[in-house]
Amino acid sequence: MRSSRNGNGSDVLVIGGGIIGLVTAWRAAQRGLRTAVADPEPGGGAARVAAGMLAAVTELHYGEQLLLGLNLASAARYPAFVAELEAASGRETGFRACGTLAVALDADDRAQLRDLHALQLRSGLESEWLTGRECRRLEPMLAPGVRGGLRVDGDHQIDPRRLAAALLTACERAGVVFHRDRVERLSVVGDRAAGAVLAGGAELAADQVVLAAGSLSGRLPGLPDEVVPPVRPVKGQVLRLTVPAPYAPFLSRTVRAVVRGSHVYLVPRENGELVVGATSEEMGWDTTVTAGGVYELLRDAHELVPGITELPLTETLAGLRPASPDNAPLLGPTALPGLLLATGHHRNGVLLTPLTGDVMAEFLTGGEPPEPARPFSPRRFPSPAAPVRQEQPA
Ligand code: GLY
Repeated sequence: MRSSRNGNGSDVLVIGGGIIGLVTAWRAAQRGLRTAVADPEPGGGAARVAAGMLAAVTELHYGEQLLLGLNLASAARYPAFVAELEAASGRETGFRACGTLAVALDADDRAQLRDLHALQLRSGLESEWLTGRECRRLEPMLAPGVRGGLRVDGDHQIDPRRLAAALLTACERAGVVFHRDRVERLSVVGDRAAGAVLAGGAELAADQVVLAAGSLSGRLPGLPDEVVPPVRPVKGQVLRLTVPAPYAPFLSRTVRAVVRGSHVYLVPRENGELVVGATSEEMGWDTTVTAGGVYELLRDAHELVPGITELPLTETLAGLRPASPDNAPLLGPTALPGLLLATGHHRNGVLLTPLTGDVMAEFLTGGEPPEPARPFSPRRFPSPAAPVRQEQPA
Protein backbone atom coordinates (compact mmCIF):
# COMPACT_ATOMS: atom_id res chain seq x y z
CA MET A 1 0.00 0.00 0.00
CA ARG A 2 1.21 3.53 -0.78
CA SER A 3 1.40 6.08 1.97
CA SER A 4 -0.24 9.44 1.39
CA ARG A 5 1.78 12.62 1.02
CA ASN A 6 -1.46 14.49 1.70
CA GLY A 7 -2.39 14.47 5.35
CA ASN A 8 -5.80 16.00 4.67
CA GLY A 9 -6.32 14.66 1.20
CA SER A 10 -6.77 11.19 -0.19
CA ASP A 11 -4.44 8.63 -1.66
CA VAL A 12 -6.59 8.43 -4.78
CA LEU A 13 -9.06 10.88 -6.30
CA VAL A 14 -11.23 9.46 -9.08
CA ILE A 15 -12.72 12.06 -11.40
CA GLY A 16 -15.94 10.58 -12.74
CA GLY A 17 -18.44 8.37 -10.93
CA GLY A 18 -19.72 6.23 -13.80
CA ILE A 19 -19.23 2.49 -13.60
CA ILE A 20 -15.55 2.73 -14.60
CA GLY A 21 -14.79 5.37 -11.95
CA LEU A 22 -16.80 3.51 -9.33
CA VAL A 23 -15.18 0.14 -9.92
CA THR A 24 -11.77 1.81 -9.78
CA ALA A 25 -12.65 3.51 -6.50
CA TRP A 26 -14.09 0.32 -5.00
CA ARG A 27 -11.05 -1.76 -5.86
CA ALA A 28 -8.68 0.98 -4.66
CA ALA A 29 -10.50 1.27 -1.32
CA GLN A 30 -10.39 -2.52 -0.94
CA ARG A 31 -6.60 -2.28 -1.24
CA GLY A 32 -6.53 0.10 1.73
CA LEU A 33 -6.14 3.33 -0.23
CA ARG A 34 -8.03 6.38 1.05
CA THR A 35 -10.20 7.01 -1.98
CA ALA A 36 -12.49 9.83 -3.08
CA VAL A 37 -14.76 10.22 -6.12
CA ALA A 38 -15.78 13.57 -7.60
CA ASP A 39 -18.95 13.59 -9.69
CA PRO A 40 -22.19 15.63 -9.47
CA GLU A 41 -24.24 12.44 -9.93
CA PRO A 42 -22.26 9.30 -9.16
CA GLY A 43 -23.84 6.18 -10.64
CA GLY A 44 -24.98 8.09 -13.74
CA GLY A 45 -23.21 8.47 -17.07
CA ALA A 46 -23.35 6.17 -20.06
CA ALA A 47 -24.39 3.19 -17.89
CA ARG A 48 -27.83 4.78 -17.50
CA VAL A 49 -28.34 4.27 -21.21
CA ALA A 50 -26.32 1.13 -22.00
CA ALA A 51 -28.08 -2.17 -22.68
CA GLY A 52 -25.44 -4.16 -20.79
CA MET A 53 -24.54 -6.83 -23.34
CA LEU A 54 -21.37 -8.67 -22.42
CA ALA A 55 -20.63 -9.36 -26.06
CA ALA A 56 -16.95 -10.23 -26.41
CA VAL A 57 -17.65 -12.80 -29.13
CA THR A 58 -20.59 -11.33 -31.08
CA GLU A 59 -19.01 -7.84 -31.21
CA LEU A 60 -15.67 -9.14 -32.51
CA HIS A 61 -14.22 -6.99 -35.31
CA TYR A 62 -11.36 -7.54 -37.73
CA GLY A 63 -8.09 -6.08 -36.51
CA GLU A 64 -9.15 -6.04 -32.86
CA GLN A 65 -7.47 -9.24 -31.64
CA LEU A 66 -5.74 -7.50 -28.71
CA LEU A 67 -9.02 -5.96 -27.63
CA LEU A 68 -10.60 -9.41 -27.90
CA GLY A 69 -8.06 -10.69 -25.36
CA LEU A 70 -8.97 -7.88 -22.98
CA ASN A 71 -12.71 -8.41 -23.49
CA LEU A 72 -12.46 -12.17 -22.94
CA ALA A 73 -10.36 -11.69 -19.81
CA SER A 74 -13.04 -9.38 -18.39
CA ALA A 75 -15.91 -11.66 -19.45
CA ALA A 76 -14.21 -14.54 -17.63
CA ARG A 77 -14.10 -12.47 -14.43
CA TYR A 78 -17.78 -11.53 -14.56
CA PRO A 79 -19.41 -14.34 -12.54
CA ALA A 80 -16.99 -14.01 -9.60
CA PHE A 81 -17.08 -10.21 -9.83
CA VAL A 82 -20.88 -10.16 -9.68
CA ALA A 83 -20.94 -12.58 -6.73
CA GLU A 84 -18.44 -10.44 -4.81
CA LEU A 85 -20.18 -7.17 -5.67
CA GLU A 86 -23.65 -8.42 -4.78
CA ALA A 87 -22.34 -9.71 -1.44
CA ALA A 88 -20.50 -6.46 -0.71
CA SER A 89 -23.44 -4.22 -1.64
CA GLY A 90 -26.44 -6.35 -0.74
CA ARG A 91 -27.84 -5.42 -4.18
CA GLU A 92 -28.60 -7.52 -7.24
CA THR A 93 -27.08 -6.56 -10.57
CA GLY A 94 -29.37 -8.35 -13.03
CA PHE A 95 -26.51 -10.49 -14.36
CA ARG A 96 -28.03 -13.10 -16.64
CA ALA A 97 -26.04 -15.96 -18.20
CA CYS A 98 -28.45 -16.22 -21.12
CA GLY A 99 -26.22 -16.23 -24.22
CA THR A 100 -26.78 -14.42 -27.52
CA LEU A 101 -28.19 -15.25 -30.94
CA ALA A 102 -26.92 -13.13 -33.86
CA VAL A 103 -29.14 -13.58 -36.91
CA ALA A 104 -29.22 -12.66 -40.60
CA LEU A 105 -32.29 -11.39 -42.43
CA ASP A 106 -31.06 -11.42 -46.03
CA ALA A 107 -28.28 -12.83 -48.18
CA ASP A 108 -25.93 -9.88 -47.52
CA ASP A 109 -26.42 -10.15 -43.75
CA ARG A 110 -25.86 -13.87 -43.95
CA ALA A 111 -22.58 -13.46 -45.87
CA GLN A 112 -21.43 -10.94 -43.25
CA LEU A 113 -22.39 -13.28 -40.44
CA ARG A 114 -20.57 -16.18 -42.14
CA ASP A 115 -17.43 -14.00 -42.23
CA LEU A 116 -17.85 -13.20 -38.53
CA HIS A 117 -18.28 -16.89 -37.79
CA ALA A 118 -15.07 -17.75 -39.65
CA LEU A 119 -13.22 -15.02 -37.72
CA GLN A 120 -14.62 -16.29 -34.43
CA LEU A 121 -13.53 -19.87 -35.18
CA ARG A 122 -10.04 -18.70 -36.28
CA SER A 123 -9.84 -16.85 -32.96
CA GLY A 124 -10.66 -20.03 -31.04
CA LEU A 125 -14.08 -18.79 -29.90
CA GLU A 126 -17.19 -20.85 -29.31
CA SER A 127 -19.91 -20.03 -31.80
CA GLU A 128 -22.30 -22.34 -33.62
CA TRP A 129 -23.93 -21.74 -37.03
CA LEU A 130 -27.69 -22.39 -37.04
CA THR A 131 -30.20 -22.51 -39.88
CA GLY A 132 -33.13 -20.09 -39.84
CA ARG A 133 -35.40 -22.87 -38.63
CA GLU A 134 -33.01 -23.71 -35.78
CA CYS A 135 -32.89 -20.03 -34.80
CA ARG A 136 -36.69 -19.86 -34.66
CA ARG A 137 -36.84 -23.05 -32.63
CA LEU A 138 -34.67 -21.30 -30.02
CA GLU A 139 -36.53 -17.99 -30.26
CA PRO A 140 -40.07 -18.46 -31.64
CA MET A 141 -40.73 -14.69 -31.82
CA LEU A 142 -38.14 -14.29 -34.60
CA ALA A 143 -39.38 -13.28 -38.04
CA PRO A 144 -40.08 -16.16 -40.46
CA GLY A 145 -37.57 -14.61 -42.87
CA VAL A 146 -34.51 -15.14 -40.64
CA ARG A 147 -31.94 -16.87 -42.88
CA GLY A 148 -29.53 -18.24 -40.30
CA GLY A 149 -27.62 -17.19 -37.26
CA LEU A 150 -24.85 -17.68 -34.74
CA ARG A 151 -25.52 -19.14 -31.34
CA VAL A 152 -23.01 -17.79 -28.82
CA ASP A 153 -23.77 -19.20 -25.40
CA GLY A 154 -20.95 -17.26 -23.69
CA ASP A 155 -22.14 -13.69 -24.43
CA HIS A 156 -24.29 -12.75 -21.44
CA GLN A 157 -25.86 -9.54 -20.06
CA ILE A 158 -26.12 -7.41 -16.94
CA ASP A 159 -28.36 -4.47 -16.04
CA PRO A 160 -25.95 -1.49 -16.08
CA ARG A 161 -28.19 0.69 -13.88
CA ARG A 162 -28.27 -1.97 -11.19
CA LEU A 163 -24.55 -2.53 -11.66
CA ALA A 164 -23.93 1.18 -11.06
CA ALA A 165 -26.18 1.21 -7.99
CA ALA A 166 -24.40 -1.83 -6.55
CA LEU A 167 -20.98 -0.28 -7.17
CA LEU A 168 -22.08 2.95 -5.49
CA THR A 169 -23.20 1.10 -2.36
CA ALA A 170 -20.08 -1.08 -2.36
CA CYS A 171 -17.94 2.06 -2.57
CA GLU A 172 -19.81 3.70 0.30
CA ARG A 173 -19.45 0.58 2.42
CA ALA A 174 -15.74 0.42 1.61
CA GLY A 175 -15.28 4.00 2.88
CA VAL A 176 -15.00 5.85 -0.43
CA VAL A 177 -15.73 9.57 0.05
CA PHE A 178 -18.06 11.16 -2.52
CA HIS A 179 -17.82 14.81 -3.56
CA ARG A 180 -21.08 15.45 -5.40
CA ASP A 181 -19.89 18.39 -7.45
CA ARG A 182 -18.50 19.10 -10.91
CA VAL A 183 -14.72 19.19 -11.28
CA GLU A 184 -13.66 22.65 -12.36
CA ARG A 185 -10.07 21.71 -13.16
CA LEU A 186 -7.23 19.34 -12.50
CA SER A 187 -4.60 20.63 -10.06
CA VAL A 188 -1.01 20.28 -11.19
CA VAL A 189 1.71 21.20 -8.71
CA GLY A 190 5.25 21.22 -9.98
CA ASP A 191 5.48 18.33 -12.38
CA ARG A 192 2.66 16.17 -11.04
CA ALA A 193 -1.10 15.88 -10.73
CA ALA A 194 -2.03 16.85 -7.20
CA GLY A 195 -5.84 16.74 -7.04
CA ALA A 196 -8.68 18.82 -8.38
CA VAL A 197 -10.68 21.98 -7.75
CA LEU A 198 -14.46 21.61 -7.65
CA ALA A 199 -17.02 24.03 -9.08
CA GLY A 200 -18.07 24.90 -5.53
CA GLY A 201 -14.48 25.98 -4.78
CA ALA A 202 -13.34 22.99 -2.72
CA GLU A 203 -9.73 21.96 -3.35
CA LEU A 204 -9.17 18.23 -3.18
CA ALA A 205 -5.62 17.02 -2.72
CA ALA A 206 -4.61 13.51 -3.75
CA ASP A 207 -1.42 11.56 -4.33
CA GLN A 208 -2.85 9.98 -7.45
CA VAL A 209 -5.68 11.15 -9.70
CA VAL A 210 -7.62 8.80 -11.96
CA LEU A 211 -9.45 10.48 -14.82
CA ALA A 212 -12.49 8.31 -15.56
CA ALA A 213 -14.90 10.85 -16.99
CA GLY A 214 -16.02 8.86 -20.05
CA SER A 215 -16.46 10.91 -23.21
CA LEU A 216 -15.79 14.10 -21.22
CA SER A 217 -12.30 12.96 -20.21
CA GLY A 218 -10.64 15.05 -22.91
CA ARG A 219 -12.40 18.24 -21.80
CA LEU A 220 -11.09 18.55 -18.26
CA PRO A 221 -9.51 21.99 -17.86
CA GLY A 222 -6.03 21.97 -16.39
CA LEU A 223 -4.85 18.90 -18.28
CA PRO A 224 -1.46 19.55 -19.86
CA ASP A 225 -1.75 19.19 -23.65
CA GLU A 226 0.50 16.14 -23.79
CA VAL A 227 -1.86 14.08 -21.60
CA VAL A 228 -5.25 15.14 -23.00
CA PRO A 229 -6.88 11.78 -23.75
CA PRO A 230 -7.89 11.33 -27.40
CA VAL A 231 -11.47 10.34 -26.66
CA ARG A 232 -14.54 11.51 -28.52
CA PRO A 233 -18.25 10.94 -27.93
CA VAL A 234 -20.15 8.42 -30.07
CA LYS A 235 -23.86 8.84 -29.55
CA GLY A 236 -26.09 5.85 -28.95
CA GLN A 237 -29.88 6.06 -28.85
CA VAL A 238 -31.61 3.25 -26.96
CA LEU A 239 -35.25 2.28 -26.36
CA ARG A 240 -36.78 0.47 -23.43
CA LEU A 241 -39.99 -1.53 -23.77
CA THR A 242 -41.88 -3.66 -21.30
CA VAL A 243 -42.96 -7.23 -21.89
CA PRO A 244 -46.37 -7.66 -20.20
CA ALA A 245 -46.78 -10.96 -18.34
CA PRO A 246 -48.98 -12.65 -20.98
CA TYR A 247 -46.22 -12.20 -23.61
CA ALA A 248 -43.39 -13.55 -21.41
CA PRO A 249 -40.93 -14.96 -22.15
CA PHE A 250 -40.83 -12.81 -25.26
CA LEU A 251 -37.16 -13.62 -25.89
CA SER A 252 -34.99 -15.85 -23.76
CA ARG A 253 -31.58 -14.47 -24.77
CA THR A 254 -30.08 -11.41 -26.43
CA VAL A 255 -30.98 -11.30 -30.12
CA ARG A 256 -29.04 -9.13 -32.51
CA ALA A 257 -28.54 -8.52 -36.21
CA VAL A 258 -26.98 -6.20 -38.72
CA VAL A 259 -29.85 -4.72 -40.73
CA ARG A 260 -28.76 -2.76 -43.81
CA GLY A 261 -25.40 -2.13 -42.18
CA SER A 262 -26.74 -0.98 -38.78
CA HIS A 263 -26.46 -3.01 -35.62
CA VAL A 264 -29.66 -3.67 -33.74
CA TYR A 265 -29.96 -5.72 -30.59
CA LEU A 266 -32.76 -6.73 -28.24
CA VAL A 267 -31.76 -7.48 -24.65
CA PRO A 268 -34.49 -9.13 -22.55
CA ARG A 269 -34.21 -8.72 -18.79
CA GLU A 270 -35.67 -11.13 -16.27
CA ASN A 271 -37.83 -8.29 -14.85
CA GLY A 272 -39.67 -7.87 -18.17
CA GLU A 273 -37.68 -4.93 -19.52
CA LEU A 274 -36.63 -5.25 -23.16
CA VAL A 275 -33.82 -2.93 -24.25
CA VAL A 276 -33.45 -2.15 -27.95
CA GLY A 277 -30.26 -0.49 -29.14
CA ALA A 278 -28.40 1.22 -30.45
CA THR A 279 -27.61 3.89 -32.95
CA SER A 280 -23.97 4.85 -33.46
CA GLU A 281 -23.63 8.51 -34.39
CA GLU A 282 -20.75 10.98 -34.51
CA MET A 283 -22.74 14.00 -33.31
CA GLY A 284 -20.44 15.62 -30.77
CA TRP A 285 -22.02 16.00 -27.33
CA ASP A 286 -25.57 16.01 -28.61
CA THR A 287 -27.81 13.63 -26.63
CA THR A 288 -31.13 14.44 -28.29
CA VAL A 289 -33.42 11.50 -28.91
CA THR A 290 -34.49 11.94 -32.52
CA ALA A 291 -37.54 10.69 -34.39
CA GLY A 292 -35.17 9.24 -36.99
CA GLY A 293 -33.16 7.33 -34.40
CA VAL A 294 -36.26 5.87 -32.76
CA TYR A 295 -37.77 5.06 -36.17
CA GLU A 296 -34.67 3.21 -37.37
CA LEU A 297 -34.35 1.18 -34.19
CA LEU A 298 -38.02 0.20 -34.21
CA ARG A 299 -38.01 -0.51 -37.96
CA ASP A 300 -34.97 -2.81 -37.68
CA ALA A 301 -36.15 -4.46 -34.46
CA HIS A 302 -39.56 -5.03 -36.05
CA GLU A 303 -37.98 -6.78 -39.04
CA LEU A 304 -36.21 -9.06 -36.61
CA VAL A 305 -39.04 -9.66 -34.13
CA PRO A 306 -42.37 -8.43 -35.59
CA GLY A 307 -44.27 -8.82 -32.32
CA ILE A 308 -42.28 -5.98 -30.80
CA THR A 309 -44.81 -3.42 -32.01
CA GLU A 310 -47.34 -4.81 -29.50
CA LEU A 311 -45.18 -3.90 -26.51
CA PRO A 312 -45.44 -0.68 -24.48
CA LEU A 313 -42.58 1.72 -25.21
CA THR A 314 -41.49 2.98 -21.79
CA GLU A 315 -38.32 5.00 -22.32
CA THR A 316 -36.10 6.56 -24.98
CA LEU A 317 -32.64 7.82 -24.11
CA ALA A 318 -29.34 8.73 -25.72
CA GLY A 319 -25.86 8.41 -24.23
CA LEU A 320 -22.28 8.95 -25.29
CA ARG A 321 -19.71 6.19 -25.70
CA PRO A 322 -16.14 7.36 -25.04
CA ALA A 323 -14.28 6.27 -28.17
CA SER A 324 -10.52 6.30 -28.67
CA PRO A 325 -8.72 6.28 -32.05
CA ASP A 326 -8.37 2.46 -31.95
CA ASN A 327 -11.71 1.77 -30.19
CA ALA A 328 -9.87 0.38 -27.16
CA PRO A 329 -9.58 1.80 -23.65
CA LEU A 330 -6.78 3.86 -22.14
CA LEU A 331 -5.74 2.28 -18.87
CA GLY A 332 -2.92 3.33 -16.59
CA PRO A 333 -0.34 6.04 -15.96
CA THR A 334 0.11 8.98 -18.27
CA ALA A 335 3.18 11.12 -19.01
CA LEU A 336 2.11 13.37 -16.11
CA PRO A 337 3.23 11.77 -12.83
CA GLY A 338 0.31 11.13 -10.53
CA LEU A 339 -2.29 11.12 -13.34
CA LEU A 340 -3.81 7.87 -14.56
CA LEU A 341 -6.52 7.25 -17.12
CA ALA A 342 -9.42 4.81 -17.14
CA THR A 343 -11.42 5.90 -20.17
CA GLY A 344 -12.01 5.28 -23.89
CA HIS A 345 -13.98 2.04 -23.39
CA HIS A 346 -16.23 2.81 -26.40
CA ARG A 347 -18.68 -0.11 -26.91
CA ASN A 348 -17.20 -2.21 -24.11
CA GLY A 349 -17.51 -0.18 -20.90
CA VAL A 350 -19.90 -2.56 -19.16
CA LEU A 351 -18.05 -5.65 -20.34
CA LEU A 352 -14.68 -4.24 -19.24
CA THR A 353 -15.79 -3.07 -15.79
CA PRO A 354 -14.43 -6.03 -13.75
CA LEU A 355 -11.04 -6.08 -15.46
CA THR A 356 -10.70 -2.29 -15.39
CA GLY A 357 -11.16 -2.26 -11.61
CA ASP A 358 -8.46 -4.88 -11.14
CA VAL A 359 -6.06 -3.27 -13.60
CA MET A 360 -6.41 0.18 -12.06
CA ALA A 361 -5.98 -1.18 -8.52
CA GLU A 362 -2.72 -2.80 -9.60
CA PHE A 363 -1.44 0.44 -11.11
CA LEU A 364 -2.50 2.46 -8.06
CA THR A 365 -0.64 0.15 -5.69
CA GLY A 366 2.50 0.01 -7.79
CA GLY A 367 1.81 -3.49 -9.13
CA GLU A 368 1.92 -4.97 -12.60
CA PRO A 369 -1.32 -5.05 -14.59
CA PRO A 370 -2.55 -8.40 -15.91
CA GLU A 371 -1.03 -9.38 -19.27
CA PRO A 372 -4.07 -8.63 -21.49
CA ALA A 373 -4.14 -5.02 -20.24
CA ARG A 374 -0.52 -4.17 -21.09
CA PRO A 375 -1.15 -3.03 -24.69
CA PHE A 376 -3.70 -0.45 -23.51
CA SER A 377 -1.43 2.13 -21.96
CA PRO A 378 -2.49 5.72 -22.67
CA ARG A 379 1.08 6.23 -23.90
CA ARG A 380 0.37 4.26 -27.09
CA PHE A 381 -0.90 7.54 -28.55
CA PRO A 382 2.28 9.62 -28.63
CA SER A 383 0.63 12.88 -29.68
CA PRO A 384 -2.88 12.87 -28.29
CA ALA A 385 -5.28 14.83 -30.41
CA ALA A 386 -6.59 17.79 -28.49
CA PRO A 387 -9.40 19.17 -30.71
CA VAL A 388 -12.16 17.87 -28.44
CA ARG A 389 -10.86 19.94 -25.57
CA GLN A 390 -12.97 22.91 -24.56
CA GLU A 391 -10.88 25.88 -23.53
CA GLN A 392 -12.09 27.95 -20.63
CA PRO A 393 -13.05 31.54 -21.45
CA ALA A 394 -10.33 33.98 -20.48
N1 GLY B 1 -21.90 -2.56 -26.96
C1 GLY B 1 -23.11 -2.06 -27.45
C2 GLY B 1 -23.10 -0.66 -27.86
O1 GLY B 1 -22.15 0.07 -27.60
O2 GLY B 1 -24.05 -0.24 -28.47
